[in-house]
Amino acid sequence: MHNYIDYRKIERPLKFQNFTVEIGFGSGDYILKMAKDNTDEVFFGIEKSWIPVNKLIKKCRKYDLKNVFCTKLDAYWAFQFLFNDRSVKRIIMNYPDPWFKKFHEEKRLTRRENLYIYAKKLMLNGEIKIRTDDYAFVEFTLQESELIGCFSVSLSKPTIDKPLTKYEKRWLSIGKSIWDIVLIKDKEPIPIKIKEIREVKALFPVRIEKDKLNLQDISHREFKIEEGLYLKCFSVWKRDEDYALEVLLSENSFLQAFMIIIKKKEGYFIMDVSQFSEIFKSEGIKKSMDFLSKMLIKEIE
Ligand SMILES: C[S@@+](CC[C@H](N)C(=O)[O-])C[C@H]1O[C@@H](n2cnc3c(N)ncnc32)[C@H](O)[C@@H]1O
Repeated sequence: MHNYIDYRKIERPLKFQNFTVEIGFGSGDYILKMAKDNTDEVFFGIEKSWIPVNKLIKKCRKYDLKNVFCTKLDAYWAFQFLFNDRSVKRIIMNYPDPWFKKFHEEKRLTRRENLYIYAKKLMLNGEIKIRTDDYAFVEFTLQESELIGCFSVSLSKPTIDKPLTKYEKRWLSIGKSIWDIVLIKDKEPIPIKIKEIREVKALFPVRIEKDKLNLQDISHREFKIEEGLYLKCFSVWKRDEDYALEVLLSENSFLQAFMIIIKKKEGYFIMDVSQFSEIFKSEGIKKSMDFLSKMLIKEIE
């Protein structure tokens, strides 16, 4: 298995058990050190941007590390898609909150939905270790964790002699206070309402029984298909009588950008997701294809 895990291609959930996850690994130095010091354990890094992911993959190759895996995905969805319940032993977050403003709370990695999904995936007595320089984030995390009802909590001010992350170096150099929060799962979490995505086994091409399509009502438009499901259509390209349409789908805030190909046949069209678009086959994509097929056969005024 390679270091990089593409959640769209791999068999899910992963078979890993009793492993450590670092969320927002940045430079990757912390996860690398853990992996080098514990070669018989598995370490899984989650990042929402490509630059840290590519850096980590490079470093894993350099040190020939076979016990480090990573993916580029929002942590909430990575936990939901990739891991078995009660399989993770430890979750690490170092300086996870660059969004210190109140209105950024919904992005925080420790909002209640995230803590709930982490708790589901943690083994009993598994732990979440968070290091932060931001006391407002500490207060927010403690409040949110209480709502999940499954953690015993401890808060301390660590003494750090050797900085391990880029942020640590920066905060120590300007004398900032640092806090460690440890949340230990001592029972299963109290169920709360969370966002989920339903995967479908296959996405079939859609047949459109018309010999002319209404594309003018679709290009550069946004549609609400149902609560939580929004489709944005960008440009339409035409070649002969075939079309390519660029779309962005937000399904319970999970974003997917892909191309839709519409091919002319004898008296009808066939619409399908382009084979070059890598997608997570979801119910939302199926619904958006059905929705578009209906829009495309509307009479042209
Ligand atoms: C302030 S940096 C800290 C990086 C590193 N842990 C360190 O201490 O140097 C926060 C990191 O979290 C990542 N991040 C933020 N939100 C995320 C999310 N929802 N899912 C995955 N990674 C996320 C960012 O891309 C960034 O690399």
